[in-house]
Amino acid sequence: MARSVVILGTQWGDEGKGKIVDLLAHDADAVVRFQGGHNAGHTLVVDGRKTVLHLIPSGILTDRARCLVGNGVVVAPDALLGEIAGLESAGIEVKGRLGLSSACPVILACHEALDRAREKARGKKAIGTTGRGIGPVYEDKASRHGIRLADLADPARLADKLGGVLDYHNFLLRHYYEAEPLDVARVADDAARQGEALKPMLCDVTDELHTLRRQGRALLFEGAQGALLDIDHGTYPFVTSSNTTVGGVMTGAGVGPGDIDYVLGITKAYTTRVGSGPFPTELDDENGRRMAERGVEFGATTGRPRRCGWLDAVALRRMVRINGVTGLCLTKLDVLDGFASVKVCVDYEGVDAFPLGAEEWARARPVYETIPGWEGDTRGITDAADLPSGARAYLDRIETLVEAPIHMLSTGPEREANVIFQHPYG
Ligand code: GDP
Ligand code: IMO
Ligand code: MG
Repeated sequence: MARSVVILGTQWGDEGKGKIVDLLAHDADAVVRFQGGHNAGHTLVVDGRKTVLHLIPSGILTDRARCLVGNGVVVAPDALLGEIAGLESAGIEVKGRLGLSSACPVILACHEALDRAREKARGKKAIGTTGRGIGPVYEDKASRHGIRLADLADPARLADKLGGVLDYHNFLLRHYYEAEPLDVARVADDAARQGEALKPMLCDVTDELHTLRRQGRALLFEGAQGALLDIDHGTYPFVTSSNTTVGGVMTGAGVGPGDIDYVLGITKAYTTRVGSGPFPTELDDENGRRMAERGVEFGATTGRPRRCGWLDAVALRRMVRINGVTGLCLTKLDVLDGFASVKVCVDYEGVDAFPLGAEEWARARPVYETIPGWEGDTRGITDAADLPSGARAYLDRIETLVEAPIHMLSTGPEREANVIFQHPYG
């Protein structure tokens, strides 16, 4: 029986990871974020009530699982404190169940300011970031002058490090981007207050995970973003700044490959993308508009409309391989109900190898296979026997094209709306 499951997006994010994490969290003793930050927006619908989580692991609405934020996650303290307050005012106990790695890099106001200044400077070449400071904070981590949660919680350490970091960022803002610099004293005061508030939740996430693992407990790792937004394997430079692929679990939580028993790849039955960048199967027609409308495709973090298109089996197969996907969960199948036919991209023309950067991606033109649509409604079904035969044929074709089994199907936003062919926890 699988005791340690990883959930990853296999497209450009928003595949429905949060919903599936919430569902599987009932079988988990700990739910762990390992990369990204509050650029993520994970939507849970429980008892008719919608909750959007950005930093807090999506196990928080179940009452058992410990919720952990690993060292690979970049933490914006006020966003986190606001999220905690929002949940607690809705009667959900958070502070006693949430553990934050002391090694998490901290997002400061200057990171957000730099993110915005860079996007503005890029003009037409803007990435369309979430504006949450994600790129700049990961840059600070890599250049080894970043502030971590442990620094925030220790006034002497904070005072020693913060001034230099802020001077550097303010210099860039003022002289390179011609943007407003930040008030150093104000950032320092905020940081000290935030450190005080977060201190009780700091812990050694890696050690907790190893203890749970030794006790034979079940772990659930929650990916943010999607594999095509991975800094190394995605549509560079139109990507996020972390490794969203499976390696991120190891570096971002401190576990080994042997600590992973099962990798669940989440994919929509079609494709969406928010922000700029290549998207070979993007549609600008009635079909795309129908997907956007039926799928309510607006970003959970920024509210931007998501671009929509057909399922890309070429990209998906590559992401299945990169992540060592054990099984797939296909979400939002119900959105395709009522289409006369659906298309799947089975090859790219214009490139002779899998595209590795935006320039190659721009040359990739999709070659489609057309599959008949299906009669009947898949919305909310929970029994495989209720699947229309046409929908079953679509799933079978995807499994063959991407060389991975579909173990789960999501048929609506609600926690219960799933068909489970093979449960990741056995
Ligand atoms: P995440 O970032 O991967 O967690 O996904 P988001 O929450 O950003 O976006 C997924 C959206 O689709 C949310 O609004 C979910 O409530 C919704 N959703 C998830 N699964 C399904 C499904 O099977 N069918 C439909 N119609 N909506 C779904
Ligand atoms: P979840 O976890 C969809 C996109 C942004 C932008 C690019 C870089 O909800 O699936 P960043 O702010 O990370 O520097 O932006 O990545 N992006 C997402 N798109 N879902 C997400 O998260 C995303 N997080 C970042 O739109 O194109
Ligand atoms: Mg999302």
